[in-house]
Amino acid sequence: MSEEDKSHTSILLPGARVALFTTDSETKEAFHALESDWRFARVVLETIEGDVETAIKSCSAGESPDLIIIQTEDIDDGFSDRLEALAGSLSEHTSAIVIGPDNDVNLYRKLVAMGVSDYLVRPVKTDMLGNEIASTLIEQVGTSDSRLIAVMGAKGGVGTTVLAEALAWGSASDLNQKTFLMDASGGWSTLSVGMNFEPSTTLGEAVRAASEGNEDSLSRMVYQADEKLFVLSSGGDVMLDDSVEQEKFEALLEYLMGLYPVVVVDLSGGTAALKRTILTRAHLTMLVTTPTLPSVRAARTLLQEIKELRGGDIDDVEVVLNMQNYAPKFEVPKAQIQEGLERPPSVTIPFDPAIFVSTESEAVKLGDHNQGGSIVESLLAPVRKLLAISVVEGQGSDVKKGGIGGILTKLKAKS
Ligand SMILES: Nc1ncnc2c1ncn2[C@@H]1O[C@H](COP(=O)(O)OP(=O)(O)OP(=O)(O)O)[C@@H](O)[C@H]1O
Ligand SMILES: [Mg+2]
Repeated sequence: MSEEDKSHTSILLPGARVALFTTDSETKEAFHALESDWRFARVVLETIEGDVETAIKSCSAGESPDLIIIQTEDIDDGFSDRLEALAGSLSEHTSAIVIGPDNDVNLYRKLVAMGVSDYLVRPVKTDMLGNEIASTLIEQVGTSDSRLIAVMGAKGGVGTTVLAEALAWGSASDLNQKTFLMDASGGWSTLSVGMNFEPSTTLGEAVRAASEGNEDSLSRMVYQADEKLFVLSSGGDVMLDDSVEQEKFEALLEYLMGLYPVVVVDLSGGTAALKRTILTRAHLTMLVTTPTLPSVRAARTLLQEIKELRGGDIDDVEVVLNMQNYAPKFEVPKAQIQEGLERPPSVTIPFDPAIFVSTESEAVKLGDHNQGGSIVESLLAPVRKLLAISVVEGQGSDVKKGGIGGILTKLKAKS
């Protein structure tokens, strides 16, 4: 698998059922091991002792899984015939992967032409199997190519909101991406001041509308800040009310990710539950810290927790060191920060109240200030990297593969 493919599948996968039919213990083990892969938290993995015949019987009797994996020792014409029979008992949307004994290009081509998503050669390793299943499910269930960017502070007041705003402006105007910006702060939101709008709704109402599938109301809750920049017009919540439920917040996220290629979420005011939801799903996380000891310590702890949350994967977390030289005598030296966080900051931003405070108070774009442009450019570097990947993926996913059931049914209809 290439690096691009790996990062493409490095997301929490959609809810799906995957059934493996096999008689091989190594394949079973590799498949079982996926249960501890964080990406598969919502995927039901079933192992059934048997072959293509068993699969035909099982699928004729019950509901089709989203993905069927058949491990076989026979790859002759008889097998292709039985695969065709299997397709007849599957739903149109079911995808299939075949695991066989030999590397055979002709067979691979034949199976792919029949609608099989991939042909793997035994023995299959967990990593490879996981990535193949993940990319098949992503293509099939149609998870969008949208990119979710989380901006979170190591502690309060470190500049998370102003930087999330600057990032969203940059993504929309400099990178030309249709971008959506929202926060998880409810009544504590300061987005309306920074982005210059009057909140027309509450986060509570927005997540309710999303969980009820009320798209009309949702579309009225969006403030368009620029040609390509859209903001959730929330913030009218009662400040001392409880925050929204995590499941409903996730429904709002699903809705937005179906519409906007880039979704930026400012997590500075969110509850731990909302932060967890976003951090688990984010394709890129910008962790903002100042060079002061309490902030650097909190950043270190958070990096550890994010790592655990994402099953060890924190390659997509970038550290933003903000307000450098705010109090030079009391700051942790950069080399120590790098040592403590086990990574250099990807972006370093100087303390500059004239630019920042005027930006947020007068709702001026950070990038419109003299030195602001270079700050935005440095913030956008990780986003550029992320989107370069998604362009490649976008091209691939234009050609959506149908399920094996659908393709084989059409082939049969023609003959
Ligand atoms: N590099 C900087 N130089 C000077 N001031 C800055 C800088 N970055 C942010 N600020 C200012 O710091 C203050 C806090 O910023 P902001 O509200 O974005 O922080 P936050 O982390 O979102 O806070 P909260 O935890 O309250 O949500 C604002 O007045 C902002 O303009
Ligand atoms: Mg904030």
